[in-house]
Amino acid sequence: MDNSLRAKLFSSGKQTPYYFYDLELLQNTLSLAKEQADKRGFHVHYALKANCNERVLTKIQQEGFGADCVSGNEVLKALDKGFPASKITFAGVGKSDHEIQIALKNNIFAFNVESAQELEVIAHWAKAANRIARISLRINPNVDAKTHKYITTGLDDNKFGLPAIEIDKAVETLRANKHLEFIGLHFHIGSQITDLEVFKNLALKANQWRAWFEEQGLEVKVLNMGGGLGVSYEDPDLNPIVDFQEYFSIFDKYLERPNRQEVHFELGRSMVAQCGSLVTKVLYVKDNGTRKFVIVDAGMTELLRPALYQAFHKIEKLQSSTEETQFKYDVVGPICESSDSFGEQVELGEVERGDLLVIRSAGAYGEVMASNYNLREELRFVYNDTIES
Ligand code: LLP
Repeated sequence: MDNSLRAKLFSSGKQTPYYFYDLELLQNTLSLAKEQADKRGFHVHYALKANCNERVLTKIQQEGFGADCVSGNEVLKALDKGFPASKITFAGVGKSDHEIQIALKNNIFAFNVESAQELEVIAHWAKAANRIARISLRINPNVDAKTHKYITTGLDDNKFGLPAIEIDKAVETLRANKHLEFIGLHFHIGSQITDLEVFKNLALKANQWRAWFEEQGLEVKVLNMGGGLGVSYEDPDLNPIVDFQEYFSIFDKYLERPNRQEVHFELGRSMVAQCGSLVTKVLYVKDNGTRKFVIVDAGMTELLRPALYQAFHKIEKLQSSTEETQFKYDVVGPICESSDSFGEQVELGEVERGDLLVIRSAGAYGEVMASNYNLREELRFVYNDTIES
């Protein structure tokens, strides 16, 4: 976040707390992701769950990405925003009958199927609607994503993906049913993955699975490698845009495509995390002799990640000078929960009542995970072009 932006936000006098979205940074991030994917013929579906803000979604849709959805309402939202049905995927371990019907009715690109029973239910509704459902089987490859336990999805202990012992049954159902069209395989092993070696491991595992399915006589046309690319929460200014080039080249190098299979991705965080910040005002500063608490007007109701995953988000004074003496503060919210904390022992220049703080990298899984617990007020938003209005 550059100084002119900080100065504008500082003097805007907008009511806090609010999410600020830097739509210019978003645009630059999207353009780079698109360029790197297009160069290799890769297809990217944006994972709506990361951020469904209207203006953010509009930009993503306009850039030509597809949509990765995990609920019937996300499918409807994607359609409403103009994402073509032919670019919408629908994943999730617990798709309801109603949600399956919505997806069938709109003839989306593919269901990412996570159990043998789910496949039968999709077949049932596809027959009833006289449709053909395109199916990718989500394989749990047992590859360690080396990330937080709560956002690890590709290990045997996780609920996600088709269990290995259900695969034969799923293959049988696919063969027997003319309302199902098998198109390929889907993998998603976790989120906020920063060790890129993990993606190499995933590609190598995917090669084995593809070969296995082909040996069964099933043609694999699509390899969907999910999302998961992590961002730098520690230094958002040094790394405002992730290295999409490096990420995509790993798959280009290690993912075999003997029949020129299509390669798809479902990126969420890496597209939107850095363009969002939560701006909050200091209500009180108190000192209990051992700790100094900075109590701000945003809480876990606006940004849940620190409370839920002990996630680190960089916290800064909106306007500070490098010469300031640094103090250590616990930056906490007003919610009646001890987990309502944004950071312990955060180093900041001296903080006073009325100061504005900015919690960085809040564009992914921030706004979407907000709640009105404690009957909190509705979220507020500021964008580059509304700072001054
Ligand atoms: N595809 C599937 C099937 C997913 O489950 C997810 C994320 C994605 C794609 C997008 O992953 P990304 O590129 O954003 O890593 N609330 C957590 C993150 C949960 C991720 C859930 N699945 C957080 O705040 O860290």
